[in-house]
Amino acid sequence: MNITVVGSGYVGLVCGAGFSEMGNHVICIDSDKNKIDLLNNGSIPIFEPGLQEVIKHNLSLGSLKFTTDLKAGLDRSNLCFIAVGTPQGEDGRADLSNVLDVAKSIGRLVEKDLYVINKSTVPIGTAALVKQTIYNELRLRNKDLKIEVISNPEFLREGAALTDFLRPDRVVIGSDSDEAIAVMKQLYARFTIRNNNLIIMDIKSAEMTKYAANALLATKISFMNEIANICERVKADVNLVRLGVGSDSRIGYSYIYPGCGYGGSCFPKDVQALVHTAKEHGYNPILIESVEIVNQNQKLVLVDKVTKRFENQISNLTLGIWGLSFKPETDDMREAPSVLIINELTKLGATFKVYDPKSSPIAKKYYLKDNLSIEYHTSKYDALKDVDALLLITEWKEFSSPDFEEMKKLMKQPIIFDGRNQYNKNLMHGFGFEYFQIGV
Ligand SMILES: NC(=O)c1ccc[n+]([C@@H]2O[C@H](COP(=O)([O-])OP(=O)(O)OC[C@H]3O[C@@H](n4cnc5c(N)ncnc54)[C@H](O)[C@@H]3O)[C@@H](O)[C@H]2O)c1
Repeated sequence: MNITVVGSGYVGLVCGAGFSEMGNHVICIDSDKNKIDLLNNGSIPIFEPGLQEVIKHNLSLGSLKFTTDLKAGLDRSNLCFIAVGTPQGEDGRADLSNVLDVAKSIGRLVEKDLYVINKSTVPIGTAALVKQTIYNELRLRNKDLKIEVISNPEFLREGAALTDFLRPDRVVIGSDSDEAIAVMKQLYARFTIRNNNLIIMDIKSAEMTKYAANALLATKISFMNEIANICERVKADVNLVRLGVGSDSRIGYSYIYPGCGYGGSCFPKDVQALVHTAKEHGYNPILIESVEIVNQNQKLVLVDKVTKRFENQISNLTLGIWGLSFKPETDDMREAPSVLIINELTKLGATFKVYDPKSSPIAKKYYLKDNLSIEYHTSKYDALKDVDALLLITEWKEFSSPDFEEMKKLMKQPIIFDGRNQYNKNLMHGFGFEYFQIGV
């Protein structure tokens, strides 16, 4: 099939790479010319395991192309995916300006019938708005074309995005057109052949499914973080509680790891957007609203532990930081707990030696650019030289079995604040570390 994907970010690139890998011809569009130039030169602007190789391969085959020219894509395709960002707006609602800009451009440029497929996470009712926006433009041009707008939310996880896209748990299609559903079935046949997991529903239910899934995952995380905070007060160990709870097949082990809060480009904004949608429709979503409140507080738990341990004498401390990205295997810094933790401790006078395997350049350029108290390092051990304590914020694999003896030699004081409960506390005490975890 001939496909256009508008938006070449984390989702659009994976989508474009995945569809071309399955034998389709894909043109990926982005309004950011620098990004497109970089992609055409075989580099990719983000870190996502395996993505660069697949993109390079399909670029060389000619099955994947990058351009800023939406018309070039529309002229060659009968499917157009929208995968642009939908950041959080001022009042918590999703900002749809990118999506509606694309819809307008499609209406202005399209010359033939088209399936427009919404992959961006958008509030309930957006597909209808996109359709109306396109038809408004077509009317101005006196064009009589048939445009179907389909909802096809994306569930990939950054860090495992390509695998998730190629072997999805499910593909959700929202449409009220039999013809459109048939085209989607054909497109996704290779992706869903294993367990026939293409789920078809009406458009609004598909749009809602994405928010419900993200809100439920975020709820599991905030729930376990709240349990962790109670564990600390009653002197229970959340690591054991997690095992006891997760072993119940009705609950399961995923997304119940205690930590220093979730971040990323999805959970925070999608939970807020769902709260906003509910309120707009006259419902007060008490549970979902609390999920984000718990998370905001959780991002500060490590700050509390540090200030308590050092009895508020933070101003002469140098702290080592392991991990900046919001989770491992990605360079995405959006809503990363590290930013809040570092900035709060900076206000109290701390300085930092920081190491992250992938996201230091992005942190330095965008997210922590005004913070002059940070020294960036290219090895995890360099970031420990003469520090008063280490804060482990993101659980990259390379932090899971470090050389503890070496660490102790490097650090001024052998103190670890582990925001992701990576180590065994008895082992750490055996090595002579003062070791703080979440919920223990
Ligand atoms: N990142 C994830 O893990 C994930 C997972 C599932 C769903 N989503 C959803 O997918 C959507 C995209 O997310 P993302 O993380 O890929 O965003 P992103 O910010 O990484 O990428 C968006 C891209 O769209 C481009 N863009 C914006 N406006 C444009 C326009 N008018 N024309 C062409 N290009 C334009 C931007 O330049 C950018 O490259 C969001 O709605 C998000 O909620 C994201």
